[in-house]
Amino acid sequence: MAEKEVVETSEAQIAVHWKEEDLVYPSPQFIAQANMTDPEIYDRFSLDNFPNCFKEYADILTWYKYWDEILDTSDAPCYKWFKGGQLNASYNCVDRHLAEFKNKTAIHFVSELIEEGYEHVTFQELYVRVNEMAALLKDFAGLKRGDRVTLHLPMTPDLPVTMLACARLGVIHSQVFGGFSGKAAADRIIDSGSRVLITADAYYRGGNLLDHKQKADIAVDMAKEEGQVVDKVLVWQRYPGKNSTPTPMVEGRDYFVNDVLKDYYGARVEPEKMNAEDPLFLMYTSGTTGKPKGCQHGTGGYLAYAAGTSKFVQDIHPTDAYWCMADIGWITGHSYIVYGPLALGASTVIYEGIPTYPDAGRSWRIAQDLDVNIFHTAPTAIRALRKVGPDEPAKYNYHFKHMTTVGEPIEPEVWKWYYKEVGKGEAIIVDTYWQTETGGFLCSTLPAIKPMKPGSAGPGMPGIHPIIFDDDGKTLEEGAGIAGNICIQNPWPGMFQTIWGDRDRFVETYFGRYCKDINSKDWRDWPYMTGDAAVQAEDGYFRVLGRIDDVINVSGHRLGTKELESAALVCVEVAEAAVVPVSDDIKGVVPDMYVSLKPGYDASDELAAKISAALCEEIGPIAKPNKVWIVPDMPKTRSGKIMRRILGAISNKGDVGDVMTLANPEVVEIIKKMAE
Ligand code: WTA
Repeated sequence: MAEKEVVETSEAQIAVHWKEEDLVYPSPQFIAQANMTDPEIYDRFSLDNFPNCFKEYADILTWYKYWDEILDTSDAPCYKWFKGGQLNASYNCVDRHLAEFKNKTAIHFVSELIEEGYEHVTFQELYVRVNEMAALLKDFAGLKRGDRVTLHLPMTPDLPVTMLACARLGVIHSQVFGGFSGKAAADRIIDSGSRVLITADAYYRGGNLLDHKQKADIAVDMAKEEGQVVDKVLVWQRYPGKNSTPTPMVEGRDYFVNDVLKDYYGARVEPEKMNAEDPLFLMYTSGTTGKPKGCQHGTGGYLAYAAGTSKFVQDIHPTDAYWCMADIGWITGHSYIVYGPLALGASTVIYEGIPTYPDAGRSWRIAQDLDVNIFHTAPTAIRALRKVGPDEPAKYNYHFKHMTTVGEPIEPEVWKWYYKEVGKGEAIIVDTYWQTETGGFLCSTLPAIKPMKPGSAGPGMPGIHPIIFDDDGKTLEEGAGIAGNICIQNPWPGMFQTIWGDRDRFVETYFGRYCKDINSKDWRDWPYMTGDAAVQAEDGYFRVLGRIDDVINVSGHRLGTKELESAALVCVEVAEAAVVPVSDDIKGVVPDMYVSLKPGYDASDELAAKISAALCEEIGPIAKPNKVWIVPDMPKTRSGKIMRRILGAISNKGDVGDVMTLANPEVVEIIKKMAE
């Protein structure tokens, strides 16, 4: 008889269940000025009107040529939106605003150093900088339409300038989060086949000027070992004309952008007329296996969706001062710092540093000084701001009309502080649920139309039709209040096109489980699997519970457990590694790392520190484990599978449940004792 296998409990199943909160309604003042107040939008975007409804989003953009076919499904599930249409993202974010807003601020740059004040880049100036950089990329770096280029840039205006310069040429940018290691950059350089790396010498973080250039050297060397040669490294200087890092430049390979730009002063580059389906950028994200996935986003569909959701959900008007605290190295920054707000001609804030540096009031001072009226951040930042300065917002004279939360579920208590203290009871909140893959929001309230519900993302966006399946593919009744796997029934323009270079993995990961007919060209047969568990309440609002795959969401950043575990295995002493999420007041969850050692090695604090350092080295400081537990053995099923659920219960001081079916139940007791 087959042995009874212990089933691993998914993160979603152990997620806390909050009670349904009362609805909170938007103020008449907000509604009076909102971009979208027509409830019929939900009818216009019903499944019956799919896909033509998305013309409304595309019409926000300026097209060189209108499309012939709104949605081509002939290569399902790799869809082509607005087929036959031509446009340029750089033109849409910059050039087209010059007639009306030339002298208006496009980017407010806030240095982490208070004494450096604010820098305001007008649309005219952005136009000049983007053109000159595009000329440099084209003539000096030899980049052309369709090439990939890896960016590893911190949060300064040089980053959007570089992105928009790439977009102007049709060069596909792949920005790696600045806090990631040289190794992480190398992996992305190799996968995307980049021969140019664009980086910076240094940036401020927590009051320190960090040497960033050293990561470029590591990245280029590691890429070379794998056969991907980077022949040019372009280095933006934090202070033009002054080198802020001791790391030397490599002759014939490394160039200061600021120096080379001198040859391109006054240069103008015609924007390339890109096909709507041409890729605009790659954004790598963690998956269930070790290798990050390069999510490929297209030009027309992505930009239409980023602009449309920025207009209708973020309620951005060109006169708004909009601050999204995310890093541009994440999808939130791409869609909702750069492409969405700039496509709408808004003024977008870029802040270099830590929101609580040098004091708890810093963020609110920035909001006050720049008269920010739309604010966008993640629960992890909200929790941190609440912890260090619960009464700080009241001390500053700013007024938000609109606030966003994104990236992880927000606890109702934290939501209420955000609403009452940060928003001063005046600002509406949208809880936006989406993913790197989806380009823009999947679920959210439309702020002037639907009331808010703390802890709930809200209904599907107009034109996004979520459905919850159980593990067997049975549809859970709408509003059933039972947790299941949230999927989207239909494609939408912001959806990624494929995983760069790996169509099979794309199909398998996102459609493998629920596809009705693998040969079908009908989108109805290809529900998109988000990989999240969710419940839908009776009122149709969705509450997202967490990932069903092996992904840990730390401070709203996705880290693959496999990625973390393989980083620990870099240490020769480590035999096996298992990562589990542990609840944390500020970061939501943090990884606890369990390792067992190879014979002949002994546990020590030094070794634990070494393993911790290895994770920072391999991935970046955000991967730093909460604690490294060196255990005599991993709890395992009889088939040898590591029982992460049990380790998770121990780390979270929960009930480990029945362990008698394990191959080594005694080890659970030993680990429990260690944790006491
Ligand atoms: C989670 C970030 C609850 C979810 C834009 C998703 C959320 C993953 C929310 C994507 C939210 C994102 N409520 N959970 N409002 N937003 N998530 O790719 O698990 O970095 O799958 O994109 O974050 O993270 P990613």
